[in-house]
Amino acid sequence: MSKQTTGLRGVKAGSTSICTVGAEGHGLHYRGYTIEDLAQYACFEEVVHLLLWGALPTERELDALKTQLRAHRQLPDLVVRVLRSLPSDAHPMDVLRTGVSALGIAEPERDLGNGVTVAVRLLGALPSMLGVWHLGADVLDVDVDDHATYILYMLKAETPSELECRMMDASLILYAEHEFNASTFTARVCASTLADFYGCITGAIGTLSGPLHGGANERAMELIEQFETPEDAATGVREMLARRELIMGFGHGVYRVRDPRNAIIKNWARQVSEAMGDMSLYEISEAIERVMWDEKKLFPNLDFYSATAYHMAGIETALFTPVFVLSRCSGWAAHVVEQRADNRLIRPLAEYTGVEARDYVPIEDRG
Ligand SMILES: CC(C)(COP(=O)(O)OP(=O)(O)OC[C@H]1O[C@@H](n2cnc3c(N)ncnc32)[C@H](O)[C@@H]1OP(=O)(O)O)[C@@H](O)C(=O)NCCC(=O)NCCS
Repeated sequence: MSKQTTGLRGVKAGSTSICTVGAEGHGLHYRGYTIEDLAQYACFEEVVHLLLWGALPTERELDALKTQLRAHRQLPDLVVRVLRSLPSDAHPMDVLRTGVSALGIAEPERDLGNGVTVAVRLLGALPSMLGVWHLGADVLDVDVDDHATYILYMLKAETPSELECRMMDASLILYAEHEFNASTFTARVCASTLADFYGCITGAIGTLSGPLHGGANERAMELIEQFETPEDAATGVREMLARRELIMGFGHGVYRVRDPRNAIIKNWARQVSEAMGDMSLYEISEAIERVMWDEKKLFPNLDFYSATAYHMAGIETALFTPVFVLSRCSGWAAHVVEQRADNRLIRPLAEYTGVEARDYVPIEDRG
């Protein structure tokens, strides 16, 4: 198999009307709207409506969705008990995966009606799962309105600043959807077997957790914070490249020129750093970006400056990839709904590279 087609690079594995990534590094659209317009003008709840129902909401529809999301912050007792029984040093991605499974038992899809209903239920419940696990069930009583603020409260247990909320809202929009990325493809493969909605989302969370996919934002933070100055970072990254190490938060499976989401999140990382009066991580990040371009012509993907933006907003590193889940669940859900609407079991072929057919050897005759 050629290097070009391993990992299904360049292979069209199905069709979708939800999103196109713009292979040249410009042109990322959700249902026809540019990512730049959505990140600047929309709120996350509008994007959820766009992804799940195919159109931006009217004011009434937006209010109705916000009301539903608020109502869905509450968790059944079974889920609270499961979450509270998990160790405090568990990785929060494992906590979310477990929480989704538990919710699927407490409120099976057959009781909720259709996939979109489950999707909204999950979007409302996911931030609460993190809050209940690491802060306790009382945290659910907090009275905040919009989803981004609620998420920040569940992560930090304190009222976030307005700038942090706006950054989080934009970040949720950027992370919401990205065509046939690995976790979405997982969700679609799972949906194609007619598995239930929770199973599709659980599988997607597992796929997202890997460092080559969503886990890259946590690894990017670990990289950035090991350096004291931009000069240290430039030297350190050059040494890592010489050792042929991967630099997390750089490169992309589809984009070849730039990641169109990077400029937006970089701008937010700068703004949050300025507001905190501490530009050190941002400047170290820029130094790494310069070296990566000079040495490898590689550009930052969305995960790289998300790390600095989240860190400066006071979010713990282990919660970075979980934030990705709280957003991308909307895209996964839209794809599960789309897959189900015109389903055929996804079952590709493999190129066999094993030994030729041979005779079975009884165990007593094996050397
Ligand atoms: C995203 C990623 C998995 C794409 O992998 P891919 O499609 O195989 O990458 P490419 O084919 O463009 O790689 C071209 C070359 O650049 C190298 N490269 C790609 N990303 C690199 C990185 N982040 N650091 C160092 N080298 C990198 C590859 O090793 C390859 O080198 P080679 O030709 O000597 O084998 C890869 O860029 C990566 O591992 N990035 C770091 C993890 C990350 O940020 N993931 C989040 C993605 S949104």
